[in-house]
Amino acid sequence: MKIRLPGIFKRKKRRPDDDPRMRVTKDISPSDFVLVNDQSYIYREKVLPQASTVEFWEQSGLVNFLINNPYLKNDVLDVGCGSGEIDIILARKGFVVTGIDISPYAVNMANALAEKYPDCNGRLRFVVGDIESVTFEKRFSSAIISHTFEHVINPDKVMENVIRFLEPGSHILVAVPNKKAWRDRTHLRYYTERSMKKFLSRYSDSLIAEVDNHERMIFASAKIRS
Ligand SMILES: C[S@@+](CC[C@H](N)C(=O)[O-])C[C@H]1O[C@@H](n2cnc3c(N)ncnc32)[C@H](O)[C@@H]1O
Repeated sequence: MKIRLPGIFKRKKRRPDDDPRMRVTKDISPSDFVLVNDQSYIYREKVLPQASTVEFWEQSGLVNFLINNPYLKNDVLDVGCGSGEIDIILARKGFVVTGIDISPYAVNMANALAEKYPDCNGRLRFVVGDIESVTFEKRFSSAIISHTFEHVINPDKVMENVIRFLEPGSHILVAVPNKKAWRDRTHLRYYTERSMKKFLSRYSDSLIAEVDNHERMIFASAKIRS
């Protein structure tokens, strides 16, 4: 005899998995890590093409946080810049921006998009590189690390290397999804306001971190320790 389970005990049917990206783990090989980051942009172009436009980001809480942030100073290093929309918005507002990303696919997208905005006027450049080890020929006056700490293999290496290329007293502006706000197979970790403050306080004596419930984000500004 078949026993019928009441609805609450029934297992939800899983939707077929149409996400072609491999799952990221901390021991992923360097070449697979580059590949999965490339795949993320190919996948996003398919499922959310509007996210590859400047218009999509212009009204976002992230851009609002950056543009109105008194600690965002020229010139800016954007770590994990992805396909460059945010940096194009900043360059159009007069900021000089260097975006770095480990994904050649994303950097190609960023360069192609930047060509459509001649008013960036040479204030913008995108480079392919691993922020955990890359070197720059100059120092920057502020850094943006947006939607990136949850993806990198080693957040401490990122902070240590970014700080090497910042002027003393600079700020790092951070945005991460609030813990469990959304899950993604390419996320390696999740942050709460508390855990983000704890992490940043290893590098800063003066920091602000706030939850934005509407955006499901944590926004933080941290002055680096001199
Ligand atoms: C979710 S995207 C964020 C893009 C953009 N900053 C934004 O806010 O929309 C995370 C980016 O971090 C990049 N990334 C991950 N690890 C990296 C590393 N070690 N060095 C440079 N970029 C890295 C990925 O390729 C990806 O483009």
